[in-house]
Amino acid sequence: MLKHKNILLGVCGSIAAYKSAVLVRLLVKAGANVKVILTNDAANFITPLTLATLSKNPVYTQYFEAETGVWSNHVELGLWADYFLVAPASANTIGKMANGLCDNLLTAAYLSAKCPVLFAPAMDLDMWQHESTQENISRLQQFGNIMIAPGTGELASGLHGQGRMAEPEEIVAFLATEISKNLPLLGKKALVTAGPTYEAIDPVRFVGNHSSGKMGFAIAERLQELGATVTLIAGPTALTTTKAINRIDVLSAEDMLHACTANFADSAITVMSAAVADYTPVEVAQQKIKKKEEHFSIELKKTTDILASLGNVKLENQVLVGFALETADEDNYAKDKLQRKNLDLIVLNSLNDKGAGFKVDTNKISIFNKNLEKITFETKSKTEVAKDICNEILKLVKTS
Ligand code: CTP
Repeated sequence: MLKHKNILLGVCGSIAAYKSAVLVRLLVKAGANVKVILTNDAANFITPLTLATLSKNPVYTQYFEAETGVWSNHVELGLWADYFLVAPASANTIGKMANGLCDNLLTAAYLSAKCPVLFAPAMDLDMWQHESTQENISRLQQFGNIMIAPGTGELASGLHGQGRMAEPEEIVAFLATEISKNLPLLGKKALVTAGPTYEAIDPVRFVGNHSSGKMGFAIAERLQELGATVTLIAGPTALTTTKAINRIDVLSAEDMLHACTANFADSAITVMSAAVADYTPVEVAQQKIKKKEEHFSIELKKTTDILASLGNVKLENQVLVGFALETADEDNYAKDKLQRKNLDLIVLNSLNDKGAGFKVDTNKISIFNKNLEKITFETKSKTEVAKDICNEILKLVKTS
């Protein structure tokens, strides 16, 4: 859930600030990008160096760092964040947040943040129980901010009661659950094909292609990050996937056809990025073919066009996306495939573009939609291209 999420962590002056080291470590381990803002008092409890090292990012404490002359832009930090987490949230900072005060970088970033805000209070029992604190907390909750409630136990003052900041593990689990609630594809199934297919000639040889599968794997991961339950049908490739993706390995175009047919009906989104062989040998020799003749030919027959066959049975509420790899008259061929195969989107790769194609980590695509409008994109990493493709898919998925 936390992979690639931008988490802005605000740390206030509280003894619980020492736990923020573990919190940052857990967030980074879960794949999040973490930036930390410390209040002046927080920096007395935990050093910026510890959190900078763990988060792999500079730690922000002031609007203006006199020594370096660097000004920290609170608006940019607020906009960067997918989630703003204040942990530990002291009574003082909670009070400022509830009343629009912004006399430090943390509270200014809070006022600039457009994202969901979560706060994990940490304070002494008497401070926690004070009407003023409780009123400030309910004000924050009225703003839509989400409290990660403090636990009960021994407090730094020696008192026993509520006020202990939730443990870092609990905070991370809470955040992951919160993120999962906001995912746009939660409850949707997605089917993705990736990689080449191998068409056997004999027990040791095959007809194949150079597809690495990287584009399809990136799309599968992105759909999963957006909350979909993903089935990835992969041709032969050395790539690995997370456990969260249901991976079905296949070898030939025929295997891929069977796997797709079995999984298509309940898929809200299907993305066919595999480079499926268009032809397969008519006969597969049972024994290794010995070299004898000077010239040797293999008779090939057409494989089933999997994409077209799914397009034939596609229902109104299913989104079907195909790929086209072209070397000439790209736009017209792509538009023709979109209509002929009854697709909702077609992603066009042109081998004429630098940085696009099989063996590179980047890709340059254009997408045509059903209205035959063309959306063009710059050359990007395949992970970024997957985001662009999924953004177009999101526009078409009916949320119900
Ligand atoms: N495709 C498929 N089954 C096949 C061949 C292709 O599902 N047997 C899918 C690919 O996964 C891709 C799309 O069809 O999404 C386009 O493949 P491409 O080979 O470019 O198109 P073709 O329809 O085979 O057209 P042509 O050979 O004329 O380029």
